[in-house]
Amino acid sequence: MLRCLVVGLLVLAGSFPVGSFVPATAGPRSTRTAAARADFNWGAAARPSLLERDPGYAQALADNFTVITPENALKFDTVHPAPDRYDFGPGDRLADFARAHGMKMRGHTLVWHAQLPDWVTRETRTRDQWIGLMRDHIVTVLGHYRSAYPDVFYQWDVVNEAFDGRGERRPSVWQKGIGDDYVELAFRFAREAWPGMQLFYNDFDDGTGESDCDRSAKCAAIKRLATRFRSRSVPLDGIGFQGHIKDLDSPDFGSLAGWVERLGLRWAITELDMTCTSARPPQVDRPACFASQARAFGAAVRACVDSPACDTVVQWGVSDRDSWLNRMTYDPSANPLAFDRQFGYKPAAYAVVKELSG
Ligand code: G3I
Repeated sequence: MLRCLVVGLLVLAGSFPVGSFVPATAGPRSTRTAAARADFNWGAAARPSLLERDPGYAQALADNFTVITPENALKFDTVHPAPDRYDFGPGDRLADFARAHGMKMRGHTLVWHAQLPDWVTRETRTRDQWIGLMRDHIVTVLGHYRSAYPDVFYQWDVVNEAFDGRGERRPSVWQKGIGDDYVELAFRFAREAWPGMQLFYNDFDDGTGESDCDRSAKCAAIKRLATRFRSRSVPLDGIGFQGHIKDLDSPDFGSLAGWVERLGLRWAITELDMTCTSARPPQVDRPACFASQARAFGAAVRACVDSPACDTVVQWGVSDRDSWLNRMTYDPSANPLAFDRQFGYKPAAYAVVKELSG
């Protein structure tokens, strides 16, 4: 206990790179301990390959988070690589890690336009064949995790990013092959496969940073869909706001999600990260960027804590070292998360602890 106390004090002082020598249990002032005490789901997107390759990564994931979202392990191309073959290995490794460390998981994502294997995208099919393919995928994946890890998963992104920035339907294989009702069918298949699982629609706001949903074409389209679903008892339980934000357009999530609560749905911030336009090369102003991130991460957690319909904020990665943005050419300077490249606490991590500690 003394060791944890010492670690915790050093962490508070900002002088201890948490995640490298932290004992198997989270420090007393860690984001994980603050989340657990607040009965709040604070998570990270994770990759099984890094769990095995990087002990510091595994330690940081276990010590700083209470929830895991598989960054890619449960997407179609990984989990259903061939018509008659499913590969639950990567997802199971994350679920085993979550179970071993007392963590929960958000499933991500069953129906999306991206990361589809060639055998799905290159075939022509009738509408009924597309519906059958989508149903088999949903029922098989949810069926596996319902039977193998019923204690671990609590929310699932059923459909991801069905709308484009104009609020129009994306021309995905699902949209073209089935039509508008593919979204409703996906949620009905998912409810049939796992009654009691929180089924979410997940999307991003195209960086408009708008806090008034009706002023964002995409958010307004999602709101119309959700309203129609509620009136027709389509089994939609929640809306995921991804939260890929920039310092100049960080939305007020509480305002943005007000309509969700009024519809009787839950909401979550599912993929939080923040790039700093002020930190783009050549002028890399790290202190200003990290202070801006602290305000944004703190405000996001505060908005969720203050809402009776929200209990989950997930950042999209464990640390700046593994962020997807590092591979995006448009932001090679990305340091978008609450933990730095040595898994140390950045101002945003302290802001999360502060907001969760009331
Ligand atoms: O698995 C292959 C590997 O075999 C191959 O050698 C390698 C060559 O580049 O590619 C690997 O696949 C990559 C995959 O991530 C797994 O690492 C893809 O190229 C790469 O495009 C893919 O990127 C993912 C991206 O979704 C795809 O759109 C990111 O890791 C992931 O963080 C990102 O996550 C999405 C959310 O799921 C939905 N919301 C937006 C978010 C950011 O795009």
